[in-house]
Amino acid sequence: MLPALLRRLPRRHRASFFRRRMGAPGDLRRFLAIIMMIGCVFLLYMFWAQPTSPTSVPLQTFVPVVTSKDSNTHYAKIDFRWTWTCENKRCVRKESTETGVHVSLTTCSMLCGSSMLWPQPTGPTTLGSHSVSFDREQLTFETTATEPARSYIQYSFAMFNSNVANLIQLQKNEPSATPQRDFNKFIVKVFVEHSDIVKLTLSTDESYKLILRMEGENMIGTVTANNFFGARHGLETLSQLIWWDEFASGAGSLKIVKGASVQDAPKFAYRGLMIDTARNFLPVESLKRVLVGMAANKLNVFHWHVSDSQSFPLVLPSVPQLAKYGSYSPDMVYTASEVKDLVEYARLRGIRVVIEVDVPAHVGNGWTWGPAEGLGELVMCVNVQPWSLYCGEPPCGQINPDNPHVYDVLEKIYRDIIELTGESEIFHIGGDEVNLECWQQFRNRTNPYVDLFDVWGNFTVEALKRVTKANGGKRPKHVMIWSSNLTKRPYLTKFLNKTEVLIQAWGGSDWTETPELVSSGYNVIISHVDAWYLDCGYGRWRENGGAACDPYRPWQTVYMHRPWNGDPVYRKSVLGAEACLWTEQADHVSLDTRLWPRAAAFAERVWSDVGTKSIYKQEQLSIEDVYARIQMQRERMIKRGLKNEALWPQWCSQNPGMCL
Ligand SMILES: *[C@@H]1O[C@H](CO)[C@@H](O)[C@H](O)[C@H]1NC(C)=O
Ligand SMILES: *[C@@H]1O[C@H](CO)[C@@H](O)[C@H](O)[C@H]1NC(C)=O
Ligand SMILES: *[C@@H]1O[C@H](CO)[C@@H](O)[C@H](O)[C@H]1NC(C)=O
Ligand SMILES: *[C@@H]1O[C@H](CO)[C@@H](O)[C@H](O)[C@H]1NC(C)=O
Repeated sequence: MLPALLRRLPRRHRASFFRRRMGAPGDLRRFLAIIMMIGCVFLLYMFWAQPTSPTSVPLQTFVPVVTSKDSNTHYAKIDFRWTWTCENKRCVRKESTETGVHVSLTTCSMLCGSSMLWPQPTGPTTLGSHSVSFDREQLTFETTATEPARSYIQYSFAMFNSNVANLIQLQKNEPSATPQRDFNKFIVKVFVEHSDIVKLTLSTDESYKLILRMEGENMIGTVTANNFFGARHGLETLSQLIWWDEFASGAGSLKIVKGASVQDAPKFAYRGLMIDTARNFLPVESLKRVLVGMAANKLNVFHWHVSDSQSFPLVLPSVPQLAKYGSYSPDMVYTASEVKDLVEYARLRGIRVVIEVDVPAHVGNGWTWGPAEGLGELVMCVNVQPWSLYCGEPPCGQINPDNPHVYDVLEKIYRDIIELTGESEIFHIGGDEVNLECWQQFRNRTNPYVDLFDVWGNFTVEALKRVTKANGGKRPKHVMIWSSNLTKRPYLTKFLNKTEVLIQAWGGSDWTETPELVSSGYNVIISHVDAWYLDCGYGRWRENGGAACDPYRPWQTVYMHRPWNGDPVYRKSVLGAEACLWTEQADHVSLDTRLWPRAAAFAERVWSDVGTKSIYKQEQLSIEDVYARIQMQRERMIKRGLKNEALWPQWCSQNPGMCL
């Protein structure tokens, strides 16, 4: 059982927030009391005088984020004979006749040895070993933040409220039982130092402190952060300390850990998830669900691989031809306003959107309008056969690097993307899987002996120039590019300036690629195919040839992969990592279960980076703890409306330690 040291811990905290009078002589005390009363009246006046934004956020701002009918299933009560008791930090299933009480598995797990938080906080964390019941009506929210952070925090409150609402499971025939209330009010307070920060960068401080404690009759949850991003992570953690106990007070009850202190900050600034919307189209609603899951796991970069040789669904204001020629159908497109809406939806969840239009390979359908508009061929080898000679998968297509109009089109694309996403610190230009044979065969060459790597390198250099022009003459701090033969020596240093590019290393974890990039001084984002490609393992989709990347990467593989392995050189060059989902064999029907809970396993790797050998400094990594926590996180995500793959038979969850 965890020690409940909360009585000791929050004193410093209390002093800074509430400035209690302590031990002052009588007169001074009265004087201070009067001053305080005047202060309070003044503050109250300020608070009522604010025309648009009250300090106390009323619950009416409730915005349903995800409502899942499935998660609120009514169930019939039967005479259930099992209860759980905490023995040696493990919940043991017992007959309730033996113990005389009925403790649910969730309640037992929340109070028995594990934090049950996901991702695991990286700073000192102490949780109470008791719980109290409450009712959602008791929740109120307060923040001292001013605009623009204020609106974002209000929205986070609404999401918090919605997440709590989604926990509630009403029982059949017993909807009107009076909810149990073990305290008076539940007040959630958020303090941020910088209300002006609402744009995420790689140097944004995402840390937070969370203190949860009883003060008199009230439960007070206090989140303190540098800015909105840390604050929303703190609220996310607070929401994980709340659960539904189906046995409590007859008809079930919301419960919360009675007291907590958490200090937390991510180990990596870039915690990405890549989704491909070109092989199969994903509706905006599906992408929003991805963002909901990312927020629940504190992932912060949504890398949107929006187009490919198969399709181009993005309607760009300056180059609408791409979607006109390249979308699968008129309703399988993303309009500019949908993209802007999605970017805001993401930002409210602490996530930034990086849109990638991959070039010079992975293009084709969508790019064939050049001749019709007098611009000549923008692309070559489009849909050629036999495809296997000219590209990695059908259909083929590659930019025509000799056509100067291509670069003007790229500049327009880049300008639109920067304008739609508001993202100018990171820009992804693609660069994946160029096939030199396509250029070798289909270019109208003036000099047949040219080194095609020079063609590729020159193309990339010009594309980089256009990114800078599109961004008002200022190069984005990190221009991302997929690793390839061009990111190997000698081409690497010939064409790519290490202070300017950020290389997304996707090769196998045993390849020399990543260590070579790191030792050459390049910054990298790691997406090792053998650990973090979530699309693998679904067999082949073409009759000829094997599956592209078998086998399936189970969540344990995703979780245990730790390519930097504590190496300080790595830790300096690796800005983060990204899990990838290519969608040759996934669409909106299977999207959720492809991602979850494996992307959550990835999220803990990049947020907490718990050593695969040791956790909590000296202790061994507790596999049992990881299983228990990811199981709980999976259930939380299901309650938020995300379909999650099952981890194991439920019996194993009900009998902790027995399946390991
Ligand atoms: C190459 O030249 C031929 C003949 O002039 C022309 O039809 C074709 O479109 C050209 N290809 C490219 C990629 O410019
Ligand atoms: C690449 O660019 C360099 C510098 O502009 C130029 O000298 C060279 O001929 C170009 N190579 C090719 C193959 O276009
Ligand atoms: C990189 O170059 C090698 C040697 O030229 C070639 O065998 C390999 O297929 C290339 N890799 C890719 C991804 O194109
Ligand atoms: C690389 O970029 C930096 C910063 O933009 C610049 O100072 C430096 O001269 C560049 N190096 C090369 C080799 O172009």
